[in-house]
Amino acid sequence: MQGKRVVILTGAGISAESGIQTFRDNDGLWEEYHIEDVATPEAWRANPALVWGFYQGRRRQLQEVQPNPAHNALAALEQGLEHMLLITQNVDDLHERGGSQDVVHMHGQLRTLRCENSGHRELRMDPADLTDDFLTCNCCVEPQRMRPDIVWFGERPMHMEDIYAAVDACEVFIVVGSSGHVYPASDLVHIARANGVRTVLVNAEAPLNVDAFDEVHLGKAGEVLPELVNAWLAEETA
Ligand code: APR
Repeated sequence: MQGKRVVILTGAGISAESGIQTFRDNDGLWEEYHIEDVATPEAWRANPALVWGFYQGRRRQLQEVQPNPAHNALAALEQGLEHMLLITQNVDDLHERGGSQDVVHMHGQLRTLRCENSGHRELRMDPADLTDDFLTCNCCVEPQRMRPDIVWFGERPMHMEDIYAAVDACEVFIVVGSSGHVYPASDLVHIARANGVRTVLVNAEAPLNVDAFDEVHLGKAGEVLPELVNAWLAEETA
């Protein structure tokens, strides 16, 4: 894998062993909440207090969780490879706290909030920012309400031009911890495969798009990924 252009896409499964719920497992977040109640622009308009409370709870949880060995393994891989891009569907900050330097959050981030007036982002994770009270921005003359910096269903994922360019140019495409349910993230492996590149999956179970992968490693990312990363870094430069 040395010298090759590697793109990695992670999903909720990589944070599961850190104690962050996934979405579609039996104990997943979408078993507890309806997407249309807490993760759409219409929900935010209709019941902002419910949506805000949902995200404030997930933001508070960031203080209680730690990166797991899978996050650390991807940071080690980034250090060991010349060309690696880490794209995540996750909105937690565990990749960064696990040592990854360059993380592309295509579905937004919990630790930042966005001014509803200007669209400007602020890092707002002080204790005073984590109550259920709405927060206002520091960028407008008249402070405006801030919204979660999250891509809701029906909104366009972020950084897609860069993501498609990276996937089009990559020579290895690896997915860790995603069920392959949500477009356009779930389509990236098909683009890579159409380009004839090596596609690798690390997941607890076979996801919807499992047939698109050349190599499938079923297991817990925290247990499987560290060994795989050591093997990938030891691979002779082909
Ligand atoms: N190690 C590896 N894989 C795991 C682990 C683990 N410890 N635990 C769970 N998984 C796998 C599950 O088998 C499942 O295939 O992770 C996947 C999680 O799938 P989802 O819960 O659907 O999460 P994800 O694919 O990231 O969802 C994509 O959907 O709701 C939206 O915006 C949200 O970013 C999210 C997107």
